[in-house]
Amino acid sequence: MEIIRVEGGHAIGGTVHVSGAKNSALKLMAATILAPGKTTLQNVPNISDVHVMGKVLKGIGATIEVVDEHTLDIDTTNVDSWEAPYELVAKMRASTAVMGPLLGRFGRAKIAMPGGCNLGARKIDMHILGLEALGVEFDTAHGYINAQAPNGLTGTTVTLEFASVGATENLIMAAVRATGTTIIDNAAREPEIVDLANMLNEMGAKIVGAGTPVVQIEGVEELHPVTHRVIGDRIEAGTFIVAGALMGNEDGVTVTGFSPIHLGMVLKKLELMGIECERVEDGVRVHRAERIKPVDIQTLPFPGFPTDMQAQVMVLSALADGSSVITENIFENRFMFASELVRMGADIRIESHHAMIHGVDGFSGAQVTSPDLRGGAALVVAGLVADAVTEVSAIHHIKRGYERFVEKLQGLGAHVEHATVPDPVED
Ligand code: EPU
Repeated sequence: MEIIRVEGGHAIGGTVHVSGAKNSALKLMAATILAPGKTTLQNVPNISDVHVMGKVLKGIGATIEVVDEHTLDIDTTNVDSWEAPYELVAKMRASTAVMGPLLGRFGRAKIAMPGGCNLGARKIDMHILGLEALGVEFDTAHGYINAQAPNGLTGTTVTLEFASVGATENLIMAAVRATGTTIIDNAAREPEIVDLANMLNEMGAKIVGAGTPVVQIEGVEELHPVTHRVIGDRIEAGTFIVAGALMGNEDGVTVTGFSPIHLGMVLKKLELMGIECERVEDGVRVHRAERIKPVDIQTLPFPGFPTDMQAQVMVLSALADGSSVITENIFENRFMFASELVRMGADIRIESHHAMIHGVDGFSGAQVTSPDLRGGAALVVAGLVADAVTEVSAIHHIKRGYERFVEKLQGLGAHVEHATVPDPVED
């Protein structure tokens, strides 16, 4: 069994460069379906979720050439299938992002129903309702969603009940090839959606308003392949910033490769906690906080506080000089990480979607299990400040979204390593 072992208590310093954004790259890869020909994506993170999306695309007939570690040539000329199979959707829900582009290009898609995941039920009803409004007919059988637009896609106004990232993206990717104009009202505003709209516009789409709650898409006849660079990963950046706030040396930790404006609410909350976050070119330099102040946080769609930073910031709150409340509004099951942090000595009580956190003086290193991607990364970060050794298992979660996490932390001087230990449940 592979684990990450962290010896706590060692200061870190220097510069770490973040990779391209996972949640952008996955959708940009899916969007290449819309432009027959060879699209080149640069700054693609080398993480397991990207490998899964590569398999989804190859499965429908695309070819992918790895030009270098972070550059992919994706040729979708010969796509001749419309199916995202269960094996891949079960591994990664974001595989459902091919639904919009397949409908846009071929008017049909067959997608395994995603089911729940360790963040909760995670329905896709809003994707379906929105696409139905554009003229898509759905039926489900044998665990698959069959989607067809017998009369093509027709632009209309879709009001989303909640500003869902995935629904906004699937709707944009279908609407770019619809007849007429589509308006998405209460659209999600995440930077990854702006990145997607930018690439689609470079391909010839006519999208205005991405990054605002009202996105207008005028359908076009065809899209052409382009070369596009994925934006930097704001969540990976935020994770290293939290590490720097906990253990940064006197020169601080500089995190580059992303736009600080994409992390606005996180930086604001960190500053309220007494953590100095200096904007530098292409990133942020963070200094270790002498004393962390408690602050209340609630997760919200962008530009609110991202759910993907909730666990990492809870590590800081758990060491604050007082009590904080963190409210999780996006996912029903995102506090599993807190029980692991309690094993390290944190004082956290969960009531429904609120976490009541009473700051303690320190963590004690322990064996803990990654409950999910962000929670796993947060446990490694907690290990940096804990006494003795922390061993984090189930690290496949971390590999889904953090490229060379251990090596990047080592580059900052952290005492962290991959290790193999016997699996306790195997003979
Ligand atoms: N929801 C519905 N019905 C829908 C769609 C969403 O009820 O049709 C609910 C979900 O169950 C959830 C909430 O709405 O409770 C938000 O879901 P959203 O669609 O906004 O999220 P997502 O597209 O499934 C993306 C990211 C997540 C990130 C969220 C929120 C990708 C691949 N995933 O998920 O990233 O937390 O947006 O910002 O882009 C991660 O990277 O660790 C991660 C989980």
